[in-house]
Amino acid sequence: MAQKKINIAVAGATGAVGNQMIRCLEEMNFPANSIQLLASSRSVGRQLRFKGDLVDVKELKENSFKGVDIALFSAGGGTSEKFAPFAAKDGCVVVDNSSAWRMDPQVPLVVPEVNPHAIAQHTEKGIIANPNCSTIQMVVALNPIHKKYGIKRIVVSTYQAVSGTGKKAIDELFDQTRAIINFLNYETSVYPHRIAFNCLPHIDAFLDNGYTKEEMKMVNETRKIMEDDSIGITATTVRVPVFFGHCESVNIETIESVSAADVKMLLENTPGVRVIDDPKKNMYPLAIDAAGQDLTLVGRIRNDESIPNGINMWIVADNIRKGAATNTVQIARILTDEYL
Ligand code: A2P
Repeated sequence: MAQKKINIAVAGATGAVGNQMIRCLEEMNFPANSIQLLASSRSVGRQLRFKGDLVDVKELKENSFKGVDIALFSAGGGTSEKFAPFAAKDGCVVVDNSSAWRMDPQVPLVVPEVNPHAIAQHTEKGIIANPNCSTIQMVVALNPIHKKYGIKRIVVSTYQAVSGTGKKAIDELFDQTRAIINFLNYETSVYPHRIAFNCLPHIDAFLDNGYTKEEMKMVNETRKIMEDDSIGITATTVRVPVFFGHCESVNIETIESVSAADVKMLLENTPGVRVIDDPKKNMYPLAIDAAGQDLTLVGRIRNDESIPNGINMWIVADNIRKGAATNTVQIARILTDEYL
């Protein structure tokens, strides 16, 4: 059978995630017939490379999607909210990396290793949502445990890289670090406090319940993706001065009895996961090891000795790749192969 050829668009192509989406389309040899690279009017006149060719960046407009089969969006929530319906109206399926559509009951929220079947629901609104970066890596590791032993409760604390905030935040960490080690004055514009040599227990806006939006995304999105509202989840999300790679300290309580050895064996046989867990040899997942590759790394797997069925672990992934661009392109690939 001749391979389908897809007309694809990337909205937010000049951003940190959009750029990685273009690289992922190349790396995964996505069957693209044509590509449209879209951004704000500020980027008109720029060119970006796709498979060796220079492609003009065009302004994202309401009529940008005529003849486009799949559009990958990573241009912020407001932009997705405004433009995704225009794309869908023109028969284009949107795979959206923002939080705009994630909790819409008519929009599937997909991690291909966990709930690929949900992609079928794309017909309802023409939109598929890509989950929050911290949620993706957590469910890749926890879903097999939930399937086999049942997870009653999750307590997670994150250590998140600045690239999750976008290009400006990468520059801010770099500029502040350089200024401080040279005893110069520095500016703080992206975050409310200095991020260099600091940790901020604050990601996204605070809500009335005292949690941040990022923390509540981890709660609500995990339940939607794992298709189980009974799981108790509580999160503390922290920004750390790391460029790429989110780390998570995760504690779970299971329904069935499970040991650290059981979890280790299960995760060693889980697609998309690599177990690195030999602490006496200083081997455990690091942000710098996760950066630039697509696996979710898990280590420090140990029994929580304070409760009967508790496990602690450390989960690390590249937030721009598996946490965003790779997951989006994986969804687009399944959509192409199985539904278009
Ligand atoms: P531009 O580069 O023209 O501003 P990041 O998250 O790394 O900051 O990237 C955000 C991406 O979203 C960029 O590609 C940016 O384009 C794009 N973007 C932001 N606002 C809009 C908008 N209103 N319309 C189209 N693209 C936008």
